[in-house]
Amino acid sequence: MSDFRYSTGPTRVVFGSHTLADVRPEVERLGRTRVLVLADPGLGTVGDRVREALGALAVGRFDGAVMHTPVAVTEQALALLREVGADCVVAVGGGSTTGLAKALAVRTGVDQVILPTTYAGSEVTPVLGETDGGTKTTRSSPDILPETVIYDVELSRGLPLGITVTSAVNAMAHAVEALYAPDTNLVTDRLALEAIERIARALRRVKADPADADIRADLLTGAWLAGTCLGSVGMGLHHKLCHTLGGTYGLPHSPTHAVVLPHALAYNAPYAKEAVRRIGEALGNPDAPAAIHDLLVETGAPTSLRELGLAEADLAQAAELATAKPYPNPAPLTQEGLAGLLRAAWAGERPSLGGPPRLDWLTDQVVSTIAGPPRLRHLLGDLVRRLHGFAIDNDLTQAEWQAGIEFLTRTGQLCDDKRQEFVLLSDSLGVSSVVDALTNSRTPETTPSAVLGPFYVEGPPELEHGTDVADGLPGVPLHVEVTITSTDGSPLPGAVVDIWQSNEDGFYDVQLPDLEGPVLRGRFRADDGGRVRFWSILPSEYPIPADGTVGDMLAATGRHPYRAPHLHFMLAAEGHQRLITQLFVAGGKYLDSDAVFGVKQDLVVDFPAGTGTPPPGRRVTGEWRDLRFTFRIAPA
Ligand code: BEZ
Ligand code: FE
Repeated sequence: MSDFRYSTGPTRVVFGSHTLADVRPEVERLGRTRVLVLADPGLGTVGDRVREALGALAVGRFDGAVMHTPVAVTEQALALLREVGADCVVAVGGGSTTGLAKALAVRTGVDQVILPTTYAGSEVTPVLGETDGGTKTTRSSPDILPETVIYDVELSRGLPLGITVTSAVNAMAHAVEALYAPDTNLVTDRLALEAIERIARALRRVKADPADADIRADLLTGAWLAGTCLGSVGMGLHHKLCHTLGGTYGLPHSPTHAVVLPHALAYNAPYAKEAVRRIGEALGNPDAPAAIHDLLVETGAPTSLRELGLAEADLAQAAELATAKPYPNPAPLTQEGLAGLLRAAWAGERPSLGGPPRLDWLTDQVVSTIAGPPRLRHLLGDLVRRLHGFAIDNDLTQAEWQAGIEFLTRTGQLCDDKRQEFVLLSDSLGVSSVVDALTNSRTPETTPSAVLGPFYVEGPPELEHGTDVADGLPGVPLHVEVTITSTDGSPLPGAVVDIWQSNEDGFYDVQLPDLEGPVLRGRFRADDGGRVRFWSILPSEYPIPADGTVGDMLAATGRHPYRAPHLHFMLAAEGHQRLITQLFVAGGKYLDSDAVFGVKQDLVVDFPAGTGTPPPGRRVTGEWRDLRFTFRIAPA
């Protein structure tokens, strides 16, 4: 919890498209009758349109506002205001015109209606900065706050890209500093994050579509919210530095804000970690200073104080001036520290929290080259994005990438018509089970599927019911009787059932060259009741082949290679989908750490001790097991 004082300004806000037309009713609402129109000289006919909209209420016009609100200019306008007897000023333009309106209001008490055409946000602050003889002074008073602000999205649609970007970053700076201001509070916090997000989103798109109304609306809303923050909480290093640079060296206002912001943020970052983290989140890049710098580069905005006209020789003095008067700021303000900041900003360096660089452009470039059928394009494009993201997020080194390539090369070299190390890799990373889950078993009425594994052999021997597939191999005798039904429970006579399993030591027949012919595998046809019956032995846990790259990976990552004991089934019946699955021995080892992630709860079943007379097919003395299971397979 932190204490705060918060007051909201009384300013009325009118927001929309073509709201310029509201200017007259808004002046009338204030009960004013004589308006001096202040129009930004660069705006062409907009001043005329405002004057027209005001009709007889307009009694004078002044188009001479100048950056940093020089007192001499204010005095000229003041003389005109008195001459025409105005009781209200209507200002249309950027921060300079707004500044002039404020300067007149604080001197005379006239009301202000402001129509901002840039994104500076000063229209909603009670702050006025004025210059007189090379020094800039700032004052704050409720009388300075405009009565009404009319945001007309149409007015900013034609704003040139340069000023669009720099004034929007100027607004963003208010929001950034509000997040680590000493008197920050819940309200400004939310406004600030919303402002940053909107401004960043709009700036990424504005170059491609400068007249888009939605983009302009985002910028204008962002400016309003950010300006509200500026008016509500104290600003730190960034604003003080820009103030010095503008007031003392005459640097242009919003470009200076744009250049300084990423550097001021980087300077404060170690002392405002949570704020910087949230700013990064709003910007969509955890390296917030770098993200702002990159935004400037992408939009062609200035990135160095050098290009704004600051002489290298002035850097030391600027650092001195900036530390002359103490003020609250997250990071301690040392002359040495600020000298470093200013030098980096002067040279246009890319400040960074030290994270990985932004490479979206490269990813986009690669993805944009991918043509072909839509599904292929989509899959490959997404794969590229994820691979790039993987490399970037993990700051992958050359050596690591090379090791990965060598690993995959060896994996490929191990593959032949008998061994598929890539499938094993997919199995042991759980990918086969993911794809299996996506492809099969998507309805609760069917028996779940499980991975095929490498030990299935096409065309197994066709066997009679009751055959002992273990053919005398040692092990606990197991009698199996399974029923194959459709999802509605009706039996499927004639269903083809392939089974295969390992021996007591965990080997499949194909792994034992000394064995003659196929054992522990076979094909059965279901009888009229959809049943298949055979003898075998209880399967045991076994390691997946671990003498290749998959084994290396398991060893290197502290994993065992074992599969839980199971029996494989492949079921095919006319008019039904094929089901490949496994039944796991309840109570068996590795059920919760199966090396290929094949275990599903519904497939873990009891292999209970057999009772009574063993069914025909093999001679049994002592313990035996009796597995019964009903498979439900889906109609095609
Ligand atoms: C198997 O159960 O036969 C198996 C499955 C995946 C990888 C290795 C073996
Ligand atoms: Fe297996």
